[in-house]
Amino acid sequence: MIIQKNVSLLPFNSFGINALAEEMITVEHASELQGIIGGGLLSDKMVFVLGGGNNVVFVGNFDGAVVHMANKGITVLDEDADTVTVRAEAGEVWDDFVWYCLEHQWFGLENLVAIPSSIGAAAVQNIGAYGVEAKDFIVEVEALDIATGNKRCFSNAECSFGYRDSVFKHSAKHFIIISVTFRLSKTPKLNLSYLAINQYLAYSGITDPTPKQLAKCIADLRWSKLPKPEVQGSVGSFFKNPVVTASHYEELKERFPNLVAYPAGDGYKLAAGWMIEKSGWKGRTVGRVGVYPKQALVLVNCGGCDGNDVARLANAIIADVETMFGVRLQPEAILVG
Ligand code: EPU
Repeated sequence: MIIQKNVSLLPFNSFGINALAEEMITVEHASELQGIIGGGLLSDKMVFVLGGGNNVVFVGNFDGAVVHMANKGITVLDEDADTVTVRAEAGEVWDDFVWYCLEHQWFGLENLVAIPSSIGAAAVQNIGAYGVEAKDFIVEVEALDIATGNKRCFSNAECSFGYRDSVFKHSAKHFIIISVTFRLSKTPKLNLSYLAINQYLAYSGITDPTPKQLAKCIADLRWSKLPKPEVQGSVGSFFKNPVVTASHYEELKERFPNLVAYPAGDGYKLAAGWMIEKSGWKGRTVGRVGVYPKQALVLVNCGGCDGNDVARLANAIIADVETMFGVRLQPEAILVG
């Protein structure tokens, strides 16, 4: 465990925001956490649990303790002829884990390749892409109660996973995730349901992809639309795709015949990127922040921005989209401070 005071969070968030944490506790072994909690190091202060910092915008300095989960390890818990049950520590890098699984011929996570995330954050956010979500493979999440230091194991159902949502997003102040357990298949069952994937495979001259070929294609496809964090700061999709009722969808479709939407439960999920583009924001820069020219759902750091720049831009986009479509966008990113 490492405890530091007045730490710059610049290296710890993909948007590249230079906020300060009053205190940062880096946890390299999950076993240290009970001592940290038992010793009162998290008592009577604001606590923010940081994974890879890929989905966080620090709007100001953080006057409390940032707990940076950096615990690593991948362990096979069980396997049979068809499946493997594998536990990954919260601080593992998500994409490294996906490729580790592919190398070991454990399948299912191909479509989630190249998502910048830690293992812990993947469960908090229920990360998803191309028709697959982390929840489809998570069997258990192990966490510690910040108040008591007691360990609690959440079954998949107890995690209350939703679209970029879980119980941990709402009780983030109460629990620190220490590991996530996945059940994966030893037989590939590729999900090729997205048109964009089929088009990209055809473009690459691949008719019957192997899981690794699919993962490579998806990684290429992602990076054709999203800035690489080392090149330009962002949190990937900044907003969620909003779900509206069928009647609201019908009304919008009348007014905007090209509206991009997909059935979702009883309603429709609208492509927020399309709406942001139509409201004129795609590719626009406002001072030190902007909207990525290749994907309007992505806000980017145009050089030395702070969290207030991001929040102002996000609010301006939310207001314009609401005026045009009557739909209020919600951030997917977590704004802290
Ligand atoms: N679109 C536009 N203009 C834009 C952006 C998108 O018209 O500027 C249209 C596209 O043409 C397409 C539709 O909107 O018809 C959907 O776009 P895309 O396939 O790029 O997906 P998305 O809905 O924008 C979501 C996830 C991504 C994930 C992709 C692929 C959310 C918030 N985002 O984006 O996840 O990679 O689907 O499955 O659900 C992330 O969460 O950080 C993320 C990147």
